[in-house]
Amino acid sequence: MQIENRQPVKVPLVREPWGIFKSLNAARQNVLSIIPEIATRQPMVSGKTGKRWHMVMDPEAIRIMLLERLDQYPKSLVTKNLLRPAIGESLFIAEGAHWRWQRRTAAPVFSHRNVMNLAPIMTGAADRAAARIADAGPRAVDMLDEMVTTTFDVISDVTFSGDGSFDRDSVHTAIDAYISEAGKISLFDILGAPDWVPRPGRMMSGKALKQMKTVADTAIDARAARGADGVPDLLDLLLEGEDPKSKRKMNTAELRDNLLTFIVAGHETTALTLAWSLYLCAFDQDVQDRARAEIKSVCADRPVTGEDVAKLPFVRQIIDEALRLYPPAAMVSRTAMAPDTLCGRDIHKGDTVIIPIYALHRSHVLWDNPDSFDPDRFAAPKDIDRYAYLPFGDGPRICIGASFALQEAVIILATLLGRFRFNPVAGKDPSPVMILTLRPEGGVWLTAEPV
Ligand code: HEM
Repeated sequence: MQIENRQPVKVPLVREPWGIFKSLNAARQNVLSIIPEIATRQPMVSGKTGKRWHMVMDPEAIRIMLLERLDQYPKSLVTKNLLRPAIGESLFIAEGAHWRWQRRTAAPVFSHRNVMNLAPIMTGAADRAAARIADAGPRAVDMLDEMVTTTFDVISDVTFSGDGSFDRDSVHTAIDAYISEAGKISLFDILGAPDWVPRPGRMMSGKALKQMKTVADTAIDARAARGADGVPDLLDLLLEGEDPKSKRKMNTAELRDNLLTFIVAGHETTALTLAWSLYLCAFDQDVQDRARAEIKSVCADRPVTGEDVAKLPFVRQIIDEALRLYPPAAMVSRTAMAPDTLCGRDIHKGDTVIIPIYALHRSHVLWDNPDSFDPDRFAAPKDIDRYAYLPFGDGPRICIGASFALQEAVIILATLLGRFRFNPVAGKDPSPVMILTLRPEGGVWLTAEPV
């Protein structure tokens, strides 16, 4: 049972309007600190910081933006400018027809059957993580670090598995360097400054990126020449894929941009989901005990498989609740291409319209005790308003890797909770800080006692 008034860590939201300079400075440390507390109590907040901007927390207005008027609200230039140097005009960035054909081509790659076929790779990575944690014990382990290693293991195995020519470490180093550089995003980037303001993506030396692309291209060409053997991984599936409408297939550069997109979009986000889930399990031992009882009754002491995922509903509820309290993509932004009215307010062409998912998930209007950790709120997910809970976005641009990520997270979390009891280390609580994603700053330091 939840101890009254005990809440997991959260971002202190602003209660009084700040001046532009204070906001700019605060945002450099933590983008979420610019969200006014009032955003957790009302449907929309608007302002002007150079350009006009709005934060929308009303599920119906969000539905209109993400579903009904998708083409009127393309992703804002900010996100695109940041990511383009690494992942080109891939699925994540493209708009209109160029996005549509790539989405149609990639969608079957993530079918239930294909994702299920990849489960043994997730189980293997989870087992190796458990072995590393057991070796490191009894001292405390930074589970954020561990989970980053584990999810990179998975994503590199399901994209370029078994390719001797693929240099995993150099790709990992290049992506980490890029993300940390791109992470030095400023409030100008979020709220929209003139295009001549330098952005990290543009300032960066292109050498590491170029090398990463060459490594990926070589692996793709080698695989295309060799053909698939065994269970098809994401590269095999994408190589086979074609747009059912135009019959177009991806060339090497398009394949590479999309595979790197899967790595960039899928690896850190899933690691964060797991790190926050473990933090919450250590925070609430009763929840941890309930999860362990479920895992033991389903899997006893054998490895957790893809088939087990559907039989572990409580483990999944913990992950759902971690994604509510700490959504890795805690803010998404769009640029209005035409005048509109949302929640009775005028939207002008060119306005930045932000969906602060962090605030939406902690709205006092939409959730009971929004800052409390309570996985039972996901026991009947049908009762939750679809557009009030958006860890993966929604509409046609919903995360293509959501079921892949959830399957991976359940397998890894169940493996770890089945083998260890996690406890927090006094004085080492993480702070939720969003730069590009919502990370537990300071790491998630836990002791892991074998059970
Ligand atoms: C827990 C882990 C993950 C979270 C929280 C997450 C979150 C999101 C969100 C919020 C979006 C929509 C962004 C927007 O509308 O502006 C998105 C899109 C996307 N995600 Fe994920 N993601 C996760 C894992 C993955 C994985 C594992 C992959 C691939 C293997 C992936 C690939 C993508 C791609 C390609 C898009 C763009 C889709 C499109 O625009 O058509 N993500 N993700």
